Amino acid sequence: MSTQQAEPESQEAPEDPEMKGAESPAAEEQKGGGMVEEHAEKEAELEGETVHIKVFRYDPEVADKQEPRFDDFHVPFTKGMTVLDSVMYARDEYDSSLTFRHSCRQAVCGSDAFFVNGKQRLGCKTQISDLEQPVRIEPLPHQEVVKDLVVDMDHFYDQMHAVEPYFQDEDTPETDALEEQRQSPENREKIKMSSRCIWCGACMSSCNIAAGDNEYLGPAAINKAYKFAMDDREGEEIKEHRLRILEQEHGVWRCQTQFSCTEVCPKDIPLTEHIQELKREAVKKNLKFW
Ligand code: SF4
Ligand code: FES
Repeated sequence: MSTQQAEPESQEAPEDPEMKGAESPAAEEQKGGGMVEEHAEKEAELEGETVHIKVFRYDPEVADKQEPRFDDFHVPFTKGMTVLDSVMYARDEYDSSLTFRHSCRQAVCGSDAFFVNGKQRLGCKTQISDLEQPVRIEPLPHQEVVKDLVVDMDHFYDQMHAVEPYFQDEDTPETDALEEQRQSPENREKIKMSSRCIWCGACMSSCNIAAGDNEYLGPAAINKAYKFAMDDREGEEIKEHRLRILEQEHGVWRCQTQFSCTEVCPKDIPLTEHIQELKREAVKKNLKFW
């Protein structure tokens, strides 16, 4: 039998300080509806117009592009046009040498993170009508530019690999007959958000600490480590091993809780929270009488 009692309908709920300023679901829905309307209005205004984009250009192998510059393109607006659509149009219709990465066009592959109007954004997830013109499109900051909007991602991948981003199980029998390793729904829920990462690099590019410390693991790699460290199936011994990797000089303690990574992540992963939780886990591991 449930021990919870229903509150009388007339009784007012006590004020929760955490909820101050929070909107009721109906108000939230109305606000969401308002945003959709605002977006539709902006799109209607652009119908039949062109969008002005300024795109960063650089190519160390071409004489007149060795000096970085911006090229202007005026792209005919189409309903639902994204930043990626606009650079694809510019490449296909005006300058076939314009270079950038892209693949899925639906926020899955993580290849088209750019610096758009001063913020790291995924090109295929960013509606051009929501941006101030001219729309300035640059490669991700703090990474070496290979050509135009393409940056060298090797360092980002190295940091991801440094946290051993694969499942390890101390109880796995040394036979070929591997068994299914089931995870509880609660544990799955806990790591759910961390598993959404698409390796786009936006978070690392936005992080001041990573910009100043090239060896800092960075938010994406730490989030990847969180996914495994919080997976109950790996066992305590492996969790300790993971925390040792994260506790090193360029690990979790470098994070200064600036939230810039969380703000730009296109998959809404609570990166800063995950990093703080790992700090708490590392402290608990080291306290003898916890
Ligand atoms: S954590 Fe978010 S911003 Fe960082 S690489 Fe993954 S998806 Fe991109
Ligand atoms: S093209 Fe794949 S995430 Fe944008």
